[in-house]
Amino acid sequence: LENGLLRTPPMGWLAWERFRCNIDCDQDPKNCISERLFMEMADRLAQDGWRDLGYVYLNIDDCWIGGRDAKGRLLPDPKRFPHGIAFLADYAHSLGLKLGIYEDMGKMTCMGYPGTTLDKVELDAETFAEWKIDMLKLDGCFSTAKERAQGYPKMSAALNATGRPIAFSCSWPAYEGGLPPKVNYTLIANICNLWRNYDDIQDSWKSVLSILDWFVKHQDVLQPVAGPGHWNDPDMLLIGNFGLSYEESRAQMALWAVLAAPLFMSTDLRTISPQNIDILQNPLVIKINQDPLGIQGRRIFKSKSQIEVFKRPLTNGASALVFFSRRTDMPYRFHSSLLELNFPKFKVYEGQNVFTGDIISGLKSETNFTVIINPSGVVMWYLYPVKSLGDLHADVPFV
Ligand code: GLA
Repeated sequence: LENGLLRTPPMGWLAWERFRCNIDCDQDPKNCISERLFMEMADRLAQDGWRDLGYVYLNIDDCWIGGRDAKGRLLPDPKRFPHGIAFLADYAHSLGLKLGIYEDMGKMTCMGYPGTTLDKVELDAETFAEWKIDMLKLDGCFSTAKERAQGYPKMSAALNATGRPIAFSCSWPAYEGGLPPKVNYTLIANICNLWRNYDDIQDSWKSVLSILDWFVKHQDVLQPVAGPGHWNDPDMLLIGNFGLSYEESRAQMALWAVLAAPLFMSTDLRTISPQNIDILQNPLVIKINQDPLGIQGRRIFKSKSQIEVFKRPLTNGASALVFFSRRTDMPYRFHSSLLELNFPKFKVYEGQNVFTGDIISGLKSETNFTVIINPSGVVMWYLYPVKSLGDLHADVPFV
């Protein structure tokens, strides 16, 4: 969607995967969906380095709605959001953050709260703009295909008509099976800034793999439709929660970065471990995700030994490589060369191993190298060409 927003994939925090529809503020006041939870996450985003690295969206998901007033305007749950949503938006803005909200293009949200119907779309867009909302995720539960086909373009136009820049996240494709001919990605990219294509992520490695498999299987369809202002969304990052090991957490971060995916964390930033912070705050993996060219990466290689290689082209001829192991035995020694991975001949590359920080220097396209990839783990490289082999005076050793 060419509304000037999300020229790189959005980064931030989204409540759903970790906090779901916990509305029990009596028993669980710290973790229930309430203004307290969002204010505490806002504080963490601002104070713990997240915002300054680009994690600026603070996004409310389902279960915030209390009903509609006499004029039909949406109201938040009065007990859990006593100061209202405009107050939360002001709070987020005062900390240099942006506030996202959730609605559903249908009778009800997925958890049964009031949805937006075709006759309410404009009113709801105006309400969100008045509250100074910065992003809307519009879900698709309890709707017909016809209502979605009318409702998503209508909401996109209604948001635009408010004059407030509001990024638009559509779940539409996910409700049509995610693929053409049912999904018209040209249309989707015109009306949405990002869109969920596939199933909800759950807190397990199995779920990450099933999403990855689907995105890879359909990469010829999905890869070309992503770009500045319009992104595929394989769903939230699980890092910091309960389902992923350390290796799997790094793998999700690396793969989501090369897929040019939105980086929405959904974890308790009040208690996240230093190790998980390191993964999520790795400046080079963020730089790769946020590359201004906005080209989604692809899987370019798959071996019988269950090693896969993903590549994302970046600005200035640079690229990101992810060597990914699906093995479950032991660290695997993978032998290859850049030439084998379709890099041009007679070039020399410099760069960095993204997670270890090791410098890569004087790597020729023709040089055989070995990377050691842990089970369910990744090795991620950032590479840029320095010169052609003919120009090289002396060989720089490969570290
Ligand atoms: C759907 C969406 C999820 C989440 C829930 C909320 O399942 O795909 O991301 O928003 O609804 O109920």
